Amino acid sequence: MTAARAFSDVMASRLASIRSEGRYRVFTPLQRRCGSFPQAAMFRADIDAHDVTVWCSNDYLALGQDRRLLDAMHASLEESGAGCGGTRNISGTHRDHVRLEEDLADYHGKEKALLFSSGYVANLTALATLGAHIEGLIVYSDEKNHNSIIEGLRLARADKRVFRHNDVQDLARLLKSDDRARPKLIVFESVYSMDGDIAPLKDIVKVAQEHDAMTYLDEVHAVGLYGPQGAGVAVREGVASSIDLIQGTLAKAFGTFGGYVAGDGETIDFLRSFGNGFIFTTALPPVLIAGARAAVKIVRDAEDLRVQQQNNVRLLKQRLRAKAIPFIDSASHIVPVIIGEASLCRKVSDALLEDYGLYMQPINYPTVARGSERLRLTPSPLHDEGPIETLVAAFEELWTRFHLHQS
Ligand SMILES: Cc1ncc(COP(=O)(O)O)c(C=O)c1O
Repeated sequence: MTAARAFSDVMASRLASIRSEGRYRVFTPLQRRCGSFPQAAMFRADIDAHDVTVWCSNDYLALGQDRRLLDAMHASLEESGAGCGGTRNISGTHRDHVRLEEDLADYHGKEKALLFSSGYVANLTALATLGAHIEGLIVYSDEKNHNSIIEGLRLARADKRVFRHNDVQDLARLLKSDDRARPKLIVFESVYSMDGDIAPLKDIVKVAQEHDAMTYLDEVHAVGLYGPQGAGVAVREGVASSIDLIQGTLAKAFGTFGGYVAGDGETIDFLRSFGNGFIFTTALPPVLIAGARAAVKIVRDAEDLRVQQQNNVRLLKQRLRAKAIPFIDSASHIVPVIIGEASLCRKVSDALLEDYGLYMQPINYPTVARGSERLRLTPSPLHDEGPIETLVAAFEELWTRFHLHQS
């Protein structure tokens, strides 16, 4: 058999298998319409719909279309051009990178922050770098941690222990059974992206202190949304100063793109100096940095948007409950509506798009466990009563059409 044939056999069989399970990924091309969030034009050849309401965006506060942010980006583009022409070490550090890192450090109450190409790269690089250099390190990772954490830990040459999701007793048991003298790091998220639940931060910090473990917290789905100035769940719970490293993204509530880690000066300097995913790649373009700086400034003062978002989340949950549509009643802005089977989930999602102009991407295995396939709704401050009533009416009809109340 030729090498090309061997490659093709494997790939064709893997693709056929995800197709037969109904979890083949079908992209829905959109053109977001600046100024009319959450509306977008939709371009899927197999679906006869054009104007859609997007219900699954991570642009949580609709800042990606905020005039102040766009003005800052336009100005930067004219002043500095498109790219930055190099890695951070070789001609790519723009003064706005430095300023944004200062802004983010201040926002999280940390000494320093470091930008990465994305939140994914931030996790991958920070965890791989710590794991490769801290001799004897043991990492304790929540079982529902994001793929960027799992992959970062795979690259790390550290021993790993996986604790049951949000289970502080299990974490304590694992910590206790290891040699007290070895260095330890607990890695967890504040808001979990698929169930929307929130980690018991205070209890995890307490256990970490009892066992002299460092803490690394992914606040990707919380920054901009929770706590004073939206600085995250760690600030809201009063434990930010006890979390050693806070990781975040600029691509969700900040409406732009990029990731970061904030912490003490020495650790950030270490990641800057040894993190391959930081060193060997071109720096983020100044236009994005200008947008992100504007976004951080807007978000710090956006309590009205946070309140409006939470009001919409509450209203959506009330309406779903009233119509017996099953959802996970999490403590965050993420509202997962459970369908429970991959091909059915895709059918409901397609019908919402085609018949009602409502876009929610089906979420299937391996992103969530089999049997818990879902539509993940993320109401923004602009998904208010009108869009909520339209959505719930569509759910009601589809729940009858697909016999979902019986399943
Ligand atoms: C928990 C978590 N961490 C990290 C990331 C990666 O962030 P980014 O989209 O900025 O790469 C994601 C992405 O959705 C995430 O859900």
